[in-house]
Amino acid sequence: MKPAQRISSIQPYFFAQLGKRITAMRSSGVDVIRMDMGSPDLPPPDAVVEALATSARLPTTHGYTLGSGTGPFRKAAARHYAERFEVELDPGSEVIDLLGSKEGLFILSQVLLNPGDLALVPDPSYSVYAVSAEIAGAEVHLMPLLAENAFLPDLGAIPADIAKRAKILWLNYPNNPTGAIADLDFFARAVEFARKNDILLAHDAPYTEVGFNGYQAPSLLQIDGAKEVAVEFNSLSKAYNMAGWRIGMALGNAEVVGYIETYKSQQDSAVFAPILAAGELAFQTDLDWIVERNRIYQLRRDAVVDGLHTAGLHVQPPQAALYVWVPIPAEETSSLDFCARLLEDTGVSTTPGVVFGKHGEGYLRISLVTELERLQEGTRRIADWVNKRY
Ligand SMILES: Cc1ncc(COP(=O)(O)O)c(C=O)c1O
Repeated sequence: MKPAQRISSIQPYFFAQLGKRITAMRSSGVDVIRMDMGSPDLPPPDAVVEALATSARLPTTHGYTLGSGTGPFRKAAARHYAERFEVELDPGSEVIDLLGSKEGLFILSQVLLNPGDLALVPDPSYSVYAVSAEIAGAEVHLMPLLAENAFLPDLGAIPADIAKRAKILWLNYPNNPTGAIADLDFFARAVEFARKNDILLAHDAPYTEVGFNGYQAPSLLQIDGAKEVAVEFNSLSKAYNMAGWRIGMALGNAEVVGYIETYKSQQDSAVFAPILAAGELAFQTDLDWIVERNRIYQLRRDAVVDGLHTAGLHVQPPQAALYVWVPIPAEETSSLDFCARLLEDTGVSTTPGVVFGKHGEGYLRISLVTELERLQEGTRRIADWVNKRY
């Protein structure tokens, strides 16, 4: 059976392949430590799980939620943005619930890009920005995220003709995979750039609630007038440890939110009502819970960073997100090979940087979603292996 052209060059999601290799290794008795994926290992707040159960016990919550069923969640999301970021949003037109933010990222490309259009995509980055553009038949212009620019794109380096053709500019801070952050000055410059070039700014922000040493990430929508040129995607996956629940949202420009809603209404039938109900409650999670959860991640971050130092792998401790971005030894030319050998020899699974784009070559990504002792053990295995070889 011949697939449609639009998917013929699409590769399977990297983690699906890796998962198969790890299952095989485990079934042959290898103690594999997973430090690759970004799926939180800790549970959501108890009250959120209770709210799910309570709502699921009602006889009235099992139908489709399309239409008015999603209203209370959208209101709660708008209230959350007002309280957390002082951003005012109309829940009726400027907020939409999603089956995880990943759904919205994919849909955005489908509703804005025609074949031959162009998307500006950071490199390295989450794969969906580029792949969704390719599936829409659009071109991708990569914006390198380099250590010397603190992993921010150099907007001034985008050629004028490319900026003119571009319809979407993607950003993601706190950043996956680099752990970099962006401040409001950078966001203001990005909004200005988008306005000047008539581009939609798409800010993917699922890590706003994961910060260390008290760091609280801003929203791009805090910039005056941002809503005229931007949408932001956010999610409950990392904020409240609800990755498997599939609940997120797009917020901002009403026209674009409307296009997403129309497309989505043909594609799926919205989030399960009890998950929406639990999601509403998640937004009320008290700050202490978030502070404590982030303290756990911070301990893990420090253990990884310190452990890597003993092998001469010097990394900047990230201030936010769930990842440590590690330069691999200079003599290695392929992060894919390096991580594959590391996995076979030590049983430690990390993500090769090149999976996130060509400017990710020379790095690997370690995720902080494994318990402290296992991360310590994994980092020790990496350090011993590196020390023996380099
Ligand atoms: C940058 C980025 N955006 C979006 C997502 C997807 O999040 P969600 O679970 O809300 O679909 C992830 C998940 O790892 C991510 O790293």
